[in-house]
Amino acid sequence: MHYLEPLFNPESVAIVGASHHEGKIGHTVVKNIVESGYKGRIYPVNPKGGEILGLKVYKNIFEIEEKVDVAIIVVPAKVAENIIGDVAKKAKHIIVITSGFSEVGNIEGEKKIVETARKHGARVLGPNVFGIYSAKPPINATFGPSKIKAGNVAVVSQSGALGIAMIGKAAEENMGLSAIVSIGNKADLTEVEILSYLFQDDLTRVVFLYIEGLENGREFLDIIRKRPPNKSIIVLKAGRSKAGARAVASHTGSLAGSDAIFDAAFRQVGILRADSLEDGLNWVTTVALSPPPKGKNVVIVTNGGGLGVIAADACEKYGLHLFDDMEVLRKTFQDVMPEFGSYKNPVDITGQAGGKEYKAALERAFKEPNIHAILALYCDRGDAELEEIKNAFIEVHKKYGDKPALYTVFGGEGATSIITALKREGIPAFSDVEDAVSSLYALYKVNERKDEGELEEIEMDEERIKEIIERAIKEGRRKLLAHEAKGILQAAGVDVPPFYLVRNIEEAVEAANKIGYPVVMKVVSEDIIHKTDVGGVVLNIENEREAAEAYEAIIENCKRNVPKARIAGVEVTKMLPKGVETIIGATTDASFGKVVMFGLGGIYVEVMKDVTFRVAPVAKKEIRRMVREIESYPILAGVRGEKSKDIGAIVDTIYRVGMLVTKFEEILELDINPLIVYEKGAKVADARMSIKVRK
Ligand code: ACO
Repeated sequence: MHYLEPLFNPESVAIVGASHHEGKIGHTVVKNIVESGYKGRIYPVNPKGGEILGLKVYKNIFEIEEKVDVAIIVVPAKVAENIIGDVAKKAKHIIVITSGFSEVGNIEGEKKIVETARKHGARVLGPNVFGIYSAKPPINATFGPSKIKAGNVAVVSQSGALGIAMIGKAAEENMGLSAIVSIGNKADLTEVEILSYLFQDDLTRVVFLYIEGLENGREFLDIIRKRPPNKSIIVLKAGRSKAGARAVASHTGSLAGSDAIFDAAFRQVGILRADSLEDGLNWVTTVALSPPPKGKNVVIVTNGGGLGVIAADACEKYGLHLFDDMEVLRKTFQDVMPEFGSYKNPVDITGQAGGKEYKAALERAFKEPNIHAILALYCDRGDAELEEIKNAFIEVHKKYGDKPALYTVFGGEGATSIITALKREGIPAFSDVEDAVSSLYALYKVNERKDEGELEEIEMDEERIKEIIERAIKEGRRKLLAHEAKGILQAAGVDVPPFYLVRNIEEAVEAANKIGYPVVMKVVSEDIIHKTDVGGVVLNIENEREAAEAYEAIIENCKRNVPKARIAGVEVTKMLPKGVETIIGATTDASFGKVVMFGLGGIYVEVMKDVTFRVAPVAKKEIRRMVREIESYPILAGVRGEKSKDIGAIVDTIYRVGMLVTKFEEILELDINPLIVYEKGAKVADARMSIKVRK
């Protein structure tokens, strides 16, 4: 049995702060529990005693003889803080409806609630929640609407108001709920534990989750990865706006708006993210009402060419496959096709089509095994056919409901009445064809299983990495010098061309000779960030004489332009030939921890922002998807007869960076910018890294 079973399926509940006064929250909760037909034992608690709704009121929680499964607290915050210890002794789970905690700055109060409860072995939902509804007992322990229809959708909401509104909306949409849980301030139980219950709950088929943020992103991703195949999740995450300004030392850090990372993390584990409440509701309803499609072939049946074309365009936009086997289409639809009709998909049964024609065409579509999903469209002609159309849709859908079929009825009041009637019958129905297509897309998406691939061991020179990091930590340096960053990457097996740190002309010439011309020289100083601007870089050095001159010039320029800079020396390295400049980076995200980034690099990276993220470490299979995700991917794949660049080398570099930052916690941010990619191989031209300095 799941440890949260008593919360979702309690045998007894106490309402601490049950009120005698109708209209007060403490009264509504008792009323909703009673009216929901709850069969367990109900214990209202209030020092005044007496009766509420015919139930005996207990003057304090110790008067109750048993330990209850759930206690619901509906007394003001200060009172809640005082009584939490008593309640925790008498309850396995405590739902704290009360507001006035961390959401208004009362962090201490919230801490006291959770710590006291945990000390006695109780868990806390909330505070600042509207309660819980669970279809299993059933129990409606909320102060929201009293009537909730049981079904297979679980709603988990961080926002209380939105959750309550969802109960109303679900009723309007005729959507049945298996549970609705308000997680509020998430002081103890978070979405992760709630999901772990819902994913094993027999009644739940799809979870609709509304969140504003995540503290434990990795646990969240893991629970999603582990969900059983018959459970789906759709997430509406608010707050698409960028993360506020923060001090970042790398391109990766500055490009990593928190929302971009949420998006990428969701994509990584195959979570479908809704952009709006409306999309979310449409999708959830469709998923809850439809069987999973058995294949990719979609057929559109319409009475209007225009609506058919709009639907076909939308299918293309969402990547749905319009079935185009003309032989099967002809065989399926030809003899139910009116004059002037077209069996080519979108199947146009023409403006004359009434209920009889729709019924015949849809029946054929349902019966044909090569058709896997149906989009039925009807343009309201404002005539008496409406009733017939409605009956045809309902009759066929009920008879053959073994494949997804979504209905769009476009028009005036008549259309609205058909949609309402279809919804009442539990049939996905829409007034806008784009909504129907996006909902079908969602149905396909939630039924897809993501295989991210397996991680494989790689060899790293861990001793060398540790040594470089330790030295910097000892010297209190947050930023590593270029040659140190390169040294770490090299030790992690990344292709870094030979480089030397030199401190005089002789060493400079000797290093250049060893590397082979042409070479590049760059100043190494923690005080100089824009090396080119101060004359700290010389490119294309062709021979010994130029090498000596370059060294002298760099030292002179830097001393003149940045007199106070501490100069560690000059880095000599190979001048790399031209290739495609990419950026690979890593940063530390507040929700997900270490993440890696890939994108088109060079000097325009912050302008183009053509980058993508994954939570590290990432298996190579997923990295390949990541690389294909950027807009400029065709440049790497090869345009106009050009040969493709070495994608394998990019994948390997990202993989190593992911493993490196996972293994070495201390690395907070890193940039390889650029990683120059060739037809064969990819090489690090420049690198930056910053580490956590121990206090
Ligand atoms: N034990 C049990 N009952 C007690 C105790 C006690 N120690 N002390 C007082 N009570 C009783 C009171 O006598 C009262 O009962 P009565 O009406 O019969 O006299 C009852 O508990 C409630 O106490 P009140 O002081 O009347 O508190 P009130 O009902 O005004 O407010 C509430 C309590 C609702 C918890 C309020 O503090 C609160 O937090 N409201 C906001 C709730 C909320 O919005 N939560 C978030 C939901 S999500 C969203 O945003 C929609």
